Amino acid sequence: MTTLLASAVETVRSVTRFERIELRPSRRRLQRAANVDDLRRIARRRLPRGIFDYIDGAAEDERTCRRNVSAFEELELEPNVLRDVSEIDTASTLFGRRLPLPLVLAPTGFTRIADSEGELAVARAAARHGLPYTLSTLSTRSIEEVGAVSTGPKWFQAYVWRDRGLVADMVSRAADQGYEALVITVDTAVFGRRERDVRRGYTLPPKLGPGTVVDGVLHPAWTKAFLTGGPITFANVDTAELSGSGSAVVLADYINDQFDPALSWDDIAWFRDRWPGPIVLKGIQSVSDAERAVAAGVEGIALSNHGGRQLDGAPAALDLVEPVAQAVGGSVAIICDGGVRRGSDIVKALALGADACSIGRAYLYALGAAGEPGVDWVLDQFGTGMRRTMALCGRRSLAEIDRDLVRRRPET
Ligand code: GLV
Repeated sequence: MTTLLASAVETVRSVTRFERIELRPSRRRLQRAANVDDLRRIARRRLPRGIFDYIDGAAEDERTCRRNVSAFEELELEPNVLRDVSEIDTASTLFGRRLPLPLVLAPTGFTRIADSEGELAVARAAARHGLPYTLSTLSTRSIEEVGAVSTGPKWFQAYVWRDRGLVADMVSRAADQGYEALVITVDTAVFGRRERDVRRGYTLPPKLGPGTVVDGVLHPAWTKAFLTGGPITFANVDTAELSGSGSAVVLADYINDQFDPALSWDDIAWFRDRWPGPIVLKGIQSVSDAERAVAAGVEGIALSNHGGRQLDGAPAALDLVEPVAQAVGGSVAIICDGGVRRGSDIVKALALGADACSIGRAYLYALGAAGEPGVDWVLDQFGTGMRRTMALCGRRSLAEIDRDLVRRRPET
């Protein structure tokens, strides 16, 4: 009987796996996640609906937003086997800087709505991974605050305000703080119509009204952080005594009021005179504009439709990569921005001719789901996912990621 019991205990022990109980809630949430979609689901649960919809939503029917993602789904990888992939190297060089992966964190406005640390959390995580973090003009932590917490590569994104003095001031502050590249967003002549926000009357910073109070009560962790984290403001423009700082605004009205719709190719030279480093035009959506960007003498272009948040109906970022690379590849760095959710997506974009990819929502979902550890987690996933894909495809370095690796999925 005792032997029988001992044997049963032994069997139970051999098939039972006790893991250390994780006490930190954000880590517990991450233990249950496997990919960016999981982070999105967790963020959706944790964030008030208006906040989640501002991050997740896009312009009009959100077709371009969905196309950004489905364009990756439509590409297949045609692997080669038996190639000795015991060493995989994902390193790349962008604007003379060696990066562990060809991945850039895109600018996102108002990051503190996802987590009270906001841009500081994202910048610190990016720095730990050695990846460039692009701070948005519409950030909720200032150029200097981010400069103080990150020794990693930093880029600054400029929107072009009617008040050029303000732009000149921000650009020179970014240069003083050692930001390495200037990203000029060129797809926001007027603000896209994000219909989820229209329906809610959504403002930034979020306003407390009857609907938002209920939303807040249903999301107590977010609400506590929001109420105790200090006011969310346009951190970069407060110092210039610009209206809008502190008070809630309907973003579309604010931007249509402040941004300069007269921005044209002639203005690029104005930036060149003020910026010592590389310039990236973000929001290029056609081959002809990619050619103009090269003629204007910029160092990089981000093929981007602003995550589908501006012109609904614009092509998926990935679909532009090959024609643009054929037209201007080698003379300008090509960044594919939109729909990138996995390391395998980076491999696909590179195979078509991109030099790097960038992510926005992927890290915002991570931030909303689990704060700064979430951003670390998602950046790790991009690295391991890219290495795994390269190993399974028989590609050891970026130089081996060639056009033969990808093909359109045959019609069924
Ligand atoms: C701001 O840039 C936004 O897309 O909401």
